Amino acid sequence: MRGKFITFEGIDGAGKSSHVAFVADFLRGRGINVVATREPGGTPLGETIRNLVLTEKMHGDTEALLVFASRREHVAAVIEPALADSAWVVCDRFTDSTYAYQCGGRGLDPQRIAPIERFVHGHLQPDLTLLFDAPIAVARERLERGTVKPDKFEREQADFFARVRLAYLNRAVEFAERIKVIDSAQSIRTIRAELVQHLEQLLDSARA
Ligand code: TYD
Repeated sequence: MRGKFITFEGIDGAGKSSHVAFVADFLRGRGINVVATREPGGTPLGETIRNLVLTEKMHGDTEALLVFASRREHVAAVIEPALADSAWVVCDRFTDSTYAYQCGGRGLDPQRIAPIERFVHGHLQPDLTLLFDAPIAVARERLERGTVKPDKFEREQADFFARVRLAYLNRAVEFAERIKVIDSAQSIRTIRAELVQHLEQLLDSARA
């Protein structure tokens, strides 16, 4: 049976990455073969593109085209083969990031993105998207506490992140079946309990 595709989203500093490993471990504990990956990146070529996108100054359209180029390679070389092989794919960011950052954050018209999305993965959408949401001030405080040097996006101002967050929340309303909002200001225990609930639902649907 084909595997399931789970994506993780949220503004920088919302604490998403720490939950990716928990979800992968939880599913492995259920005997599922899990492929954990990320965007931009996930392939050698994709990681090269990631490096460009996170460091070089460029036009917003160029940024969108590069993340989609990375995604095309990732879908073809990693995601589709894994799903076909019954593995579950757990992916740190996917196309919702492009709508949030390049459209919400940079102001690119989503109508220009939609045909590229169809071209790159028209046949494929996540089965479940976990959107980690936090107030901008909380996310920024977390970023500032971090020890690694901030990348190009992390250096953006609060109003940029406010637009990214709003775009995410609007998508969560538009795609309420797929996108589940997790309030990341809650305790780790509460967040994990919510994650397990969503995963159990998906496991049930996979058995049905
Ligand atoms: P992120 O995945 O949060 O990695 P880390 O936690 O290691 O910093 O960072 C990737 C950045 O790329 C993030 O700031 C959002 C940005 N991004 C886009 O702008 N558009 C996209 O389509 C994707 C996938 C990411």
